[in-house]
Amino acid sequence: MKAYTINRYSKEDKLQLVEVPEPIVKENDVLIEVHSASINQLDAKLKSGEFKLILPYKFPLILGHDVAGTVMKVGSKVSRFQVGDEVFARPADFRIGTFAEYIAVNENNVALKPKNISMEEAASFPLVALTVWQAFVEKANLKKGQKVFIQAGSGGVGTIAIQLAKHLGATVATTTSANNFALVKVLVLML
Ligand SMILES: NC(=O)c1ccc[n+]([C@@H]2O[C@H](COP(=O)([O-])OP(=O)(O)OC[C@H]3O[C@@H](n4cnc5c(N)ncnc54)[C@H](OP(=O)(O)O)[C@@H]3O)[C@@H](O)[C@H]2O)c1
Repeated sequence: MKAYTINRYSKEDKLQLVEVPEPIVKENDVLIEVHSASINQLDAKLKSGEFKLILPYKFPLILGHDVAGTVMKVGSKVSRFQVGDEVFARPADFRIGTFAEYIAVNENNVALKPKNISMEEAASFPLVALTVWQAFVEKANLKKGQKVFIQAGSGGVGTIAIQLAKHLGATVATTTSANNFALVKVLVLML
């Protein structure tokens, strides 16, 4: 299959499009044909080497933490998915690599794609949304009626944070530059 790889840490190097072996599908994995992947800040930080002590990957490395696509194969112990399912996923650390034609992901890291969003929208979602879920639901236990301040409401994390905070019933205060004011205003006041 074709995949975009890096062979060393660098801010400037371009990703290399190369032929690599298809992923091995373990018994709890699904093989996803990648329709869409998104670029997260973490991909850029891994590429430049900023995360090398925390996430010591080996080269060649296929980056990419977010994916939406179609299940092509299921491992022998997979119970929640079948071939043909449209899914989105945040593969676990050390099993990343969505900038490729296919990726094998443990079924625990996969969810069915909601039918009312596109593949592109679904691929923009997993890592930022899980980050916000971890912060607001698992750590802060954000509750209806509470007030939450979200620094940088226009960013990948911020746009989801505003929406989840409102969904949980909190009142949101946030920041944005003038360029992104219209977007943030819609998220805070109208949705
Ligand atoms: N992306 C993830 O999944 C993830 C996961 C864990 C942690 N994080 C961390 O969360 C933070 C945000 O990540 P992100 O992916 O949302 O980034 P992003 O999409 O690049 O958004 C960052 C936002 O920060 C604002 N900003 C830039 N410089 C600023 C400054 N000097 N003062 C105030 N605001 C400033 C910009 O909005 P305006 O121009 O409108 O001000 C920009 O939209 C980063 O520190 C990242 O490391 C991200």
